[in-house]
Amino acid sequence: MVIDLSPYVLLIENDKSSEIILFNTINSCIVTLCNNFFYENKLELEYLSEDEITFLKKNKFFVSKNEVLNELNKIKFSDDTLNITISLTELCNLSCLYCYQNDFNSNSVISNEVIDCIINYINIVIEKSQKIQFLVINIIGGEPLIAYNELKYLLKSLRTIENLKIKIIIDTNGTLLSDEILNDLINFDTIISITLTDKSDHNEVRCFKNNKGSYDEILQNLKSLREYFLSDNINLNIRYNCHHNNIQILSSFYNNLKVELQYPFFLELAYLQNYGFNTFKNTLDIKEFKKIKTNFEMNTFPENFNSDINLSTFDCSAFSDYGIKVFSTGELGLCNAWNYKKRFHNIKDISNISDIDLILGKYKKKKNISENEKCLNCKYLFLCGGFKFCKGECQCNFIDYDIDTYIRNFIYLKGGEYQ
Ligand SMILES: C[S@@+](CC[C@H](N)C(=O)[O-])C[C@H]1O[C@@H](n2cnc3c(N)ncnc32)[C@H](O)[C@@H]1O
Ligand code: SF4
Ligand code: SF4
Repeated sequence: MVIDLSPYVLLIENDKSSEIILFNTINSCIVTLCNNFFYENKLELEYLSEDEITFLKKNKFFVSKNEVLNELNKIKFSDDTLNITISLTELCNLSCLYCYQNDFNSNSVISNEVIDCIINYINIVIEKSQKIQFLVINIIGGEPLIAYNELKYLLKSLRTIENLKIKIIIDTNGTLLSDEILNDLINFDTIISITLTDKSDHNEVRCFKNNKGSYDEILQNLKSLREYFLSDNINLNIRYNCHHNNIQILSSFYNNLKVELQYPFFLELAYLQNYGFNTFKNTLDIKEFKKIKTNFEMNTFPENFNSDINLSTFDCSAFSDYGIKVFSTGELGLCNAWNYKKRFHNIKDISNISDIDLILGKYKKKKNISENEKCLNCKYLFLCGGFKFCKGECQCNFIDYDIDTYIRNFIYLKGGEYQ
């Protein structure tokens, strides 16, 4: 007897054996079976024991499309985390050739009044939503460290918030990083994310306003601030913006940087996006990039990937009840990727929960995936979750990892011990 597999189970060839890997995207359950057991996309049950069939049923390997609506409703959006992205200033001391903000002419710097309003917003939300336990503050710009006094004021104000675990993620170009700044951040659980690539590539694309490359300043800062990055609280994320000219030198860059820094860091590969207003054009194939990223990150930092499968982008902070982005003027967006041209209202207009519901309500319409035929029929539905603001025209390009490569590597990292 043959039985249809759920459309949300991905069949992946195991390149190391004649087995097929079944990855159930609904619950991340993985099994491998001999490829003889399959007839087209159906499974031949006569080869399986009762226990095996029961296991597959229990783990939803045969869920039909009609049953999926129930499954979708059961997906729990994490309501224990409040995400706030803050642009301290849109000013910058660099002129990166590819910057996605090159068309955003703003000289604004955040005021203490706007910071007070953000803290007030957080307090109102915590009072309303008792489930929130974690506060994630993404600090960006422009170059956020230009607004150092304002950053100091923000950190001091965040210390007044009680009973929440606070995580700070700061995107900085690294040229202005100093002892003083890291001393302020060391009391928080902090990730500092700095974009850096091979020296010659970096200096071509990430220059100061006078066209001088910024590599030496950044490396010097990273070396002299070693003691902070050795502490438990401050973690360094090096972001390698990949394009056709630097992808080949990735490994040598990583090996050299390890020698230079002598402390742990994560190397995150990002795909350099093209924007019509920039002359720099990335011609690296996105599929090739995804495979390289998946293999590089999983092989280089196996400890980050060997516990859970982390491929779901279903839960997006823009659609959480209270996640927002605050521009330096106090104007609002829903998430980090919010287009500045679409910013709305001002955090200064908010003084109570009714203001929040009124102002955000219009934008925070819940995604109604069940009404989207294309998404409902898509085998990636449970990983992707449908529309996202950060995906612009390429909504189906929902994750930077190559899923098949990821699952094969995951099994390998688990030492082949999976069911
Ligand atoms: C706009 S910057 C602001 C923070 C800070 N100035 C910096 O460079 O990290 C935020 C992040 O966007 C990344 N970025 C800028 N333009 C990009 C593009 N065209 N494609 C991909 N990432 C980009 C930068 O590398 C940086 O990690
Ligand atoms: S340092 Fe950051 S904000 Fe400044 S130009 Fe470069 S990517 Fe854009
Ligand atoms: S946006 Fe694209 S990839 Fe995502 S669920 Fe819909 S059809 Fe699938």
